Amino acid sequence: MFKFTAKALACALSLSIAGMAQAADPITIKFAHVVAEHTPKGQGALLFKKLVDERMDGKVTVQVYPNSSLFGDGKEMEALLLGDVQIIAPSLAKFEHYTKQIQIFDLPFLFNDINAVDRFQQSPEGKALLTSMESKGITGLGYWHNGMKQLSANKKLVEPKDARGLKFRVQASAVLDEQFKALRAAPRKMSFAEVYQGLQTGVVNGAENPYSNIYSQKMHEVQKFITETDHGVLDYMVITNTKFWEGLPEDVRSELTAILAEVTIEVNKQAEALNQKDKQRIIDAGTTEIVTLTPEQREEWREAMRPVWKKFEGEIGADLIKAAEAANQAN
Ligand code: LMR
Repeated sequence: MFKFTAKALACALSLSIAGMAQAADPITIKFAHVVAEHTPKGQGALLFKKLVDERMDGKVTVQVYPNSSLFGDGKEMEALLLGDVQIIAPSLAKFEHYTKQIQIFDLPFLFNDINAVDRFQQSPEGKALLTSMESKGITGLGYWHNGMKQLSANKKLVEPKDARGLKFRVQASAVLDEQFKALRAAPRKMSFAEVYQGLQTGVVNGAENPYSNIYSQKMHEVQKFITETDHGVLDYMVITNTKFWEGLPEDVRSELTAILAEVTIEVNKQAEALNQKDKQRIIDAGTTEIVTLTPEQREEWREAMRPVWKKFEGEIGADLIKAAEAANQAN
């Protein structure tokens, strides 16, 4: 009897010591990204931290590193795989080394608007892409919107031929590279943190971004024109290291999953308004003329860029492209 009680006591003691250790050692999640805080992704990361702080009793601590302050474009994916950062949200243009299918999001003029992008992301085909990199150690937790991309330059771009010979900054994406080659322009891969300086010094003459990235990086101060093309999308996949995620205690993982789902809804609700606000701020700054295309002019851009689809159809899959096109029809 005594023996049993002593054993039970020892067991209870060790459990409470383990409990204390857990309380003393919260799980740390570093969330790194490359944009400013007043952007859809920047706001999403902060909201995630806030809700974890409020709801998880100190079991998890989130540290947010904006503006490439921990890892920039070239390094963040590698850092995630090494366990040096636990959550990142790269733009969908930055996954080509891990899966060719995600290149679908870069195909020019594939989605009519951000609502079509949303419908595709929520479709079975879109959701399947979240788990398509697990064999490489990357788990997708959700899609966050930024918005549709506009073309900026120091030259007024009305017809596709206006872009000929200009140097455009591109993200590390073969599709985006080909998109500018189709215009007979010169694409230059450059990390996000270097774009402002690249535009300022003339290393590149133009770029493609949603209004929120243009405004928050002050690119409008060094770009005289923005042509509202809405020719492609810049959205994000929130990703984590698969081993880290699967190694979390079940209750912690499910609480984090629920919080992320809530943050995703909020980010995706706010992103369009944030972009429109930043468009207005650019207009108010008076530095940059916003060029609106007629439907016929926009059609010319579509025709000039469309040949890119054929080049990547083999890698992406014709069926996946069809599924994405179908998302242009509201149910
Ligand atoms: C870019 O490199 O232009 C974007 O991916 C930056 C971002 O994360 O929005």
